[in-house]
This record gives sequence, C-alpha cells and structure tokens, in this order.
Amino acid sequence: MIDGPANSAPSRRGLIIAIDGPAGAGKSTVARHLAERFGLLNLETGAMYRAFALKAQRSAVAVDDAVALSQLAAETTLALEPQPDGNRVLLDGQDVTALLRSPAVTDAASRVSVHPQIRAWMVRRQQELGSRGGVVMEGRDIGTVVFPHADVKIFLDASPEVRGQRRFEQTGTTASQHTHLPDEVAKELRARDERDRNRAISPLRPAEDAVILDSTYLTLAEVLDHAEAIVREALAR
Ligand code: DC
Repeated sequence: MIDGPANSAPSRRGLIIAIDGPAGAGKSTVARHLAERFGLLNLETGAMYRAFALKAQRSAVAVDDAVALSQLAAETTLALEPQPDGNRVLLDGQDVTALLRSPAVTDAASRVSVHPQIRAWMVRRQQELGSRGGVVMEGRDIGTVVFPHADVKIFLDASPEVRGQRRFEQTGTTASQHTHLPDEVAKELRARDERDRNRAISPLRPAEDAVILDSTYLTLAEVLDHAEAIVREALAR
C-alpha cells in the first residue's frame, strides 16, 4: 500500500474524501454510501484507535501511560480491509473486528487517542493507507491533519440528543451491549465528545474548507443525498 509521499496534490493520485465529525453523527453510514456510489475504498480510522486500545487492554498497559503506549505501538501492526458493511480490522494479523464496539474499548480508544506519539503513528499509517487515493476516510482529523489536501471534506454533525439516540439504537441491537440504557449511552457519548474536542493535539474540529452537514433534522436518505451532492459539486469544479 505504501506508494510515495503522502499529502501531495490529490488530483494526481485519485480522489480523497475526508469525513470528520463527532460520535453518532452518521459518518460510517455516509462514508460507506459514498464509497459505494463513487467506487472508492472506505477506511474507518476510529477502528484503528479502537484496535490499539484493545491491544493496550490485552497487554495491561494503562491508557494514560504515554511511554508504555509508544513502546507498544512500535510492536503493533494494524490493517484495515474495507468490506461492503464496514472495515475488517487486523491487529497483529488477527481479525479483531467483532471486539471493537464494547463500551470499554470505545472509552479506551478515546483515551489512547489524546497522546501525541500515538496520533503521529496513526496519522502516518493512515497516510500510507490512503496515499494512492480512491478512498473515503472517516475520523476526527482527516480533513485537518491526515489529508489536509483532500478533494472533498465533509464535517458531519448532529445535536448531542440525536446522536445519543442513534447510537443507542445502533448498539442496542448488539446483545452484549443491551445492558446500556439510553441515558448511559448519552452520558458516555458526551464524555467522549468532550475529550475528542478538547484534547491538545488535533482536536475534533471542522477544517476551514470543510462543508458542514448537520443531520439533526434530516432523514437518512436526505443526509446521503446531501453528501452525494457535495461530492458531485466538488468533482464538477
Ligand atoms: O470513530 P470512532 O467512534 O470509532 O472513534 C473511536 C475514538 O478514536 C474516538 O473517540 C476518538 C478516536 N479517533 C481519533 O482521535 N481520530 C480519528 N481520526 C478517529 C478516531
């Protein structure tokens, strides 16, 4: 996958679409839709932070131990394999996809992501994965840090209440997470939002040239239509 320097002018390298936004805004759904519509690979960078958080848990490394986490990163390999229904995630060659959505891993992912060395390592890996273009990459810092020259940048947002409800409905379908009540899901989401938006290094924020798509009062079909129109408009320029 490594193919020359990342971050060079994207027009020569194939299309790069960056989708950023807070948890529960619908990034994955939009990213998958755009990937399918425009024949692109969909790469979920959050899954990489989640897989690394899982590794930290398994290795009994504390999420606030920056030095130990950096050492752990040096001996970790992460790969994403885009599938029609999301990414298959390989941690040190092992498929861990089914283990990444638990509340504990979700919380730990947000905590490991505040460390500058971990972010630098992740960003490098993500730039490698997207260096050929032809990708929709979703996360928190894709349009600001990973691919600041992306052809299209969408910042997907929605009110905390709506995001909490959507996330509850999503996780409620997973038996292992059924124990979580809507209030608990909303509380976790707010805590994670706070951390993702207020961390010192590449906090969650829209790139200056991102199109902001607020889905609070839109149906899913409307959101997908808007997102598609944003891409078509950018391609026509
Ligand atoms: O998108 P997600 O919910 O799977 O992301 C899990 C955590 O990973 C999120 O709380 C913050 C972190 N993350 C990040 O800091 N930067 C990214 N590009 C993607 C995710």
